[in-house]
Amino acid sequence: MIDDVATIRAEAHARIAQASSLDELRTLDVDILGKKGSLSILKSGLARLESIDKKKAAGRVLNEAIAALQAAIESRQRELSLGELDDRIEREAMDLTEYLHAPVRGRAHIVTQAWQRLEDVFIGMGFQIAEGPEVETDWHNFEALNMPPSHPARSMHDTFYVDHGSPGSTVLRTHTSPVQIRVMHSTKPPIYQVMPGRVFRNETTDSTHLAVFHQIEGLVIDKGITLADLAGTIDAFTKAFFGSDFGSRLRPSYFPFTEPSAEFDIRTPDGSWLELGGCGMVHPNVLRAGGIDPEEWSGFAFGFGIDRMAKERHGVGDVREMYTNDIRFIEQF
Ligand code: FA5
Repeated sequence: MIDDVATIRAEAHARIAQASSLDELRTLDVDILGKKGSLSILKSGLARLESIDKKKAAGRVLNEAIAALQAAIESRQRELSLGELDDRIEREAMDLTEYLHAPVRGRAHIVTQAWQRLEDVFIGMGFQIAEGPEVETDWHNFEALNMPPSHPARSMHDTFYVDHGSPGSTVLRTHTSPVQIRVMHSTKPPIYQVMPGRVFRNETTDSTHLAVFHQIEGLVIDKGITLADLAGTIDAFTKAFFGSDFGSRLRPSYFPFTEPSAEFDIRTPDGSWLELGGCGMVHPNVLRAGGIDPEEWSGFAFGFGIDRMAKERHGVGDVREMYTNDIRFIEQF
């Protein structure tokens, strides 16, 4: 019996030391010390020993073994509990270091930045801001601007028509000039306003052309306004927006809604010229369509492309880059 106890005790110590989880240890506890465990079976055999001395000796060895194995199980239990806690901490720990970095701040898109700067510059020059609808009547977009249905200038605008009202009566505006008419109807002269917005043309895109782009329109109506006021305003704007080392010029051109008409170019510091937009003295027919008496009032208007200005200002090679939503591109500005 004493030998059996020694064998079981030695084996049990080895198994306790090797137990790798609390579950495994619980099973061992039952196997060794439980009611039907190996030591309990030996204990029930004590009664069958012949002499009292043998019973006492075997009983002492058995109790020592039970106490020693209980202590060994408890100590291993503490070790495994700590290990399992460490594992759990490791598993469930959250990496908070990412919160230590400053949050990434977004920024306005390059075209929005140009739009906002344009508004700032014009407000600084005494202009007010107005906006008009993107879905426009054919009358505001063309007819009121001196382009009757048969006018050849209409073919310069590849128009998207909207299925609304009588056929051909509703368009996605092809320029911001129709807002001139809306402003004339809503505001009594004198008028000093700029009108930024999105415009649409059914044209093939390339490095300088988009089908959806942005323009800013300018309208000044007052008494005694001349072409000199237009040229001076364009030049003051060019210097305020691009810098004092830039210049401007007007080049004769044609628009049905202005007479005379001009393209307006800017001179960059390296001496090259860049076309920015169109301008001219508001045509008397347009003033009349806006409810303004051309005998009493005169004015000028201009309109240029915001996307192309942003492109030039930041040296972007292809205007389409601005709308691919490639974060590596957008982040640079
Ligand atoms: C006009 O749209 C006239 N409404 C401008 C105007 C206003 C003239 C008031 C006189 C008085 P134009 O089609 O040239 O004109 O366009 C003006 C500017 O818009 C161009 O110089 C260019 O900067 C920009 N633009 C024109 N088409 C595109 C396009 N497809 N993609 C990007 N920008 C464009």
